[in-house]
Amino acid sequence: MTTPAEYPRELVQDVKLRDGSYIHIRPIRPEDAPRLQELYGRLSRDTAYHRFFTVMKRLPPDWAQVLATVDYRRRLALVAEHDGADGVEIIGVGRYEPTDEPDTVEVAFVVEDGWQGRGLGTILVREVLDSSAARGIRRFRAYVLSDNRRMLDLITRFGDVRERKTEQGVTELLFTRREERGR
Ligand SMILES: CC(C)(COP(=O)(O)OP(=O)(O)OC[C@H]1O[C@@H](n2cnc3c(N)ncnc32)[C@H](O)[C@@H]1OP(=O)(O)O)[C@@H](O)C(=O)NCCC(=O)NCCS
Repeated sequence: MTTPAEYPRELVQDVKLRDGSYIHIRPIRPEDAPRLQELYGRLSRDTAYHRFFTVMKRLPPDWAQVLATVDYRRRLALVAEHDGADGVEIIGVGRYEPTDEPDTVEVAFVVEDGWQGRGLGTILVREVLDSSAARGIRRFRAYVLSDNRRMLDLITRFGDVRERKTEQGVTELLFTRREERGR
């Protein structure tokens, strides 16, 4: 379990999107679980499928709790929040999870449909890779549906792909983070 003292406040920031809207980015907290379920409920089938490779009626509460509870080192998730008409909503999540290899993590991203195409995915990818680098993580794996050009392009913009294989419509990439200059 994580104590509040370990919450990485340095990862909290406000960012401005291309359309001028301000978004709050911060590390996830266990109490975000219900809001992850709400986000899932607002995703189109397509977006949900591209993220989870399955479509469920709802994100099960125990899975939401696991996704929301991280140790901020081996597992980390950043949420993007927007203050909407119905209160503060989570509109995007970027995360990494440990793999069997100690220096390699698996990354995953989602942005709510209505917020896609405004630059938020790019920000989440950059911030997740930068926070991993600050924690000594060098190598990243991603499982991306092979038709997901947008995510594949984002990865090649920020990373140097070392291995790539496609099986049954899913492309598995192993990449390292490219330093700022090349991005
Ligand atoms: C992949 C995803 C996270 C990207 O988020 P986003 O907020 O749309 O990303 P951005 O707005 O930063 O766009 C990234 C690039 O995608 C492309 N793009 C953006 N909107 C697009 C659109 N409507 N159609 C096609 N390409 C588009 C652009 O090339 C853009 O680059 P640019 O900044 O040079 O214009 C988001 O589309 C998503 O949640 N998809 C479903 C879940 C998913 O696929 N997850 C990946 C599994 S790991």
